[in-house]
Parts: sequence; structure tokens; C-alpha cells
Amino acid sequence: MKRYDFDELIDRRGTDCLKVDGMKKAYGVDDAVPMWVADMDFRTPDFVLEAIRQRCTHEILGYTFPSDNYYQSIVDWVTKRHHWKIEKEYLTFLPGVVPGLAHCLNAFTKPGDKVLIQTPVYMPFHWVPDNLHREVVNNYLFIEEGRFVMDFSSMEKEFNNGCKTMILCNPHNPGGRVWSPEELMQLSDLCEKYGVLVLSDEIHADLTLNGAVHTPFASLSEYAFQHTITLMAPSKTFNLAGLATSFSVIGNPALRSVFVNYLHATELNNGTIFAYVAAQAAYENGTDWVRQLTDYVWENVLLVRDFLSEQVPHIHPMIPDATYMVWLDCRELGMSQKELRHFFYQEAKVVMNDGTAFGPGGEGFMRMNLATPRSNVLRALEGIKCAFDKLGE
Ligand SMILES: Cc1ncc(COP(=O)(O)O)c(C=O)c1O
Repeated sequence: MKRYDFDELIDRRGTDCLKVDGMKKAYGVDDAVPMWVADMDFRTPDFVLEAIRQRCTHEILGYTFPSDNYYQSIVDWVTKRHHWKIEKEYLTFLPGVVPGLAHCLNAFTKPGDKVLIQTPVYMPFHWVPDNLHREVVNNYLFIEEGRFVMDFSSMEKEFNNGCKTMILCNPHNPGGRVWSPEELMQLSDLCEKYGVLVLSDEIHADLTLNGAVHTPFASLSEYAFQHTITLMAPSKTFNLAGLATSFSVIGNPALRSVFVNYLHATELNNGTIFAYVAAQAAYENGTDWVRQLTDYVWENVLLVRDFLSEQVPHIHPMIPDATYMVWLDCRELGMSQKELRHFFYQEAKVVMNDGTAFGPGGEGFMRMNLATPRSNVLRALEGIKCAFDKLGE
């Protein structure tokens, strides 16, 4: 079996990449370890790059449709990896999961409708419905024993108050929770009781760590199957975010035709040659790569956990079941959010996403991206320790 090298430091400067080249503009620093935007500092796998190169040997890049083999590669991946038997007809190409969320809101809701999200959560869950003039309903997650749990009782009140749409983050970003089948079943029962439509963002589904198992929400019950639009992509898993390679899975033919008709009307679901080629190559060849990647990321998580507990015990990482994100609870440092930002960006020289960007419930937190070579993680941790030691001087 081929061994992939995740320790290699690849210089991303000068590629217009958001994470490195965009850091100065976004944070005013260019000498910090970039641990913000959710992409990886690892090389996109060779089998994906090779498939793109191979396609370029035919030197006409005209209009291209997604082939049967492209769809089959998704069906096989989802069936094998997530034990969810889907059909090709359920699939629709989308140029991004966030655009997909926006399209779902446009297709299935109208301005003024309530949309429930579980905050703190990935920023566009807040701003996409808000920008589309839907009413965002914040359902707070609790922290119990260092992990997020759902607040079903306030959720039920909101559903009872007329909220008929929810956006689920499964697995959760920034908390890294793989929701258990029991929690998802409880959610499904509640949605059934009130007739709620679920938009389930499962972009992080492949990135499970340390034996955790992802459950696609729509695979759980007949209600969930009939009332969920699942959004997935190979982009996080295989570091392809620059290619726009997402898709939706909709089992219910009536929902599917509403969505597809909406997309067709303005050709919002047209993809590109390289999106199709890359996604297919990733799903056909990616099993070993993902296993090695997630093992590596898990070691990074353990390094952060052990280092912080020994050297900076005031910062508590939420240990993820999935994703390469670690949600750092910095509340014991006793700093305002502005002071926290200064502490990390200027003193520690580590750029992470500010917890408040994830909405209410994010105060006192920062999100650290661990999809980077171990030497970078160590550099960031040493910077944090140094800045922390200085606080006591
Ligand atoms: C939960 C979640 N959904 C969607 C996205 C982005 O998806 P896309 O680039 O396909 O719009 C991200 C990226 O970080 C994410 O964490």
C-alpha cells in the first residue's frame, strides 16, 4: 500500500490561496501559522491530480455533462463508506454546499420563513438565511462533558412556534460532533411531529476520527428519508475546495423535482469538467488516502490535547469525532474576545477563526484547523505557550 507523506511542508504562498495569501488582508498578519480557513495544507491526492492531467491530454475543454461513471462513483462511495444505499437518480451536482443551502432555501421556503440552526455553527448557516431574508432561529447547543449536545426542548418550542425548516450540521462544525443514531432519531421524531424539512450538511462525513461512525440523517428513518436534502462533497475530504464539486442527495421524488426544476431554470447545477473528473477519481481511489489522512489528523488532535493540558491548561480543546477542526475553549484565560484575538494573532502568532464568527455561543472560543503538517502544529503550540507564559510575567 502506498504511504502518503502528510509531514511535507508545501509552500502555498503566491497561489492566491485564501488561507495563506489571504491572511494578511483578513487578519493583518503574515508571519503567523495559518490555522483558519477549512482547507488542508496537504497535497491534493496524486490520483486526483493525475486524472485532471489525463483529461488535459485531450485538448478540447468544451461543454461536458456528468457521466454515468461519475454518478456511480458517488453511489459506491456513499453506500460503502456510510452504509446508505442511494440511487443515481437521487443525485444532483451542485457547485458548492453553501450555494446548495441557499438554493434549498430559495426552492423550499419564502422570505420571512423561520429557519432553525444549532449555534454555534459554521458561519454561512447564519448569514445565508439572513441574506435571503429568512428569520434565523438560534437553537443553542449545550456543552456536556466537553462535547456539544442538542437542546431538544427549546427546539420543540421553536417547531411548535411555526419553524418548519432546519439546517443540520452533521458532523458538526466547529464542534466535531458525530451525532449518535439515538440523537438523530430523536431529531427525526421531532421533525416528524411538526412536519419539518431538514437540510443536512454532511460535508465533513468522510473525516471521522478514531473509529467514530457517521450516520447520514436521511438514512435513519422513513420520515428523514422523505424530508431531507443531504448535501455532500469530496472537497473537504480530498482538498479540492478550489474545484467546486458538491452534490445533493434527495430520495423523495417530489422534493427532488421541486429542487431540480428550480436549479434548471437558471442552470445553477452546471458543473465543470474538472469537478466531475476530480470527484470521480477521488471516490474511486480514495479509501486508503482518507484512512491515512484521518489517522494523521487524529495524531495532531492528540498532540494538541496533551500539549495544552500540560503546558497551557487554561485552554480546553473539544475533542472532535470528525473534521480536522478543534474548538478551543479559552474562557478560563479570562480575556475579552478582542483580547483573545490579540493574544493569538499578535502574541502567539497563530491565526484561527474567532469563535464569535460562529454565532451566539462562540464567545470565548477559537477554532483551530489541524489539517497541516505536525511541525506546523508544534510551531503553533509553542507560540501559544510562549504567549501564555508571558501573561504571568
Ligand atoms: C459545514 C460546512 N459546510 C459547507 C462548507 C463549505 O462548502 P462549499 O465550499 O462546498 O460551499 C464548509 C467549509 O468549511 C463547512 O464546514
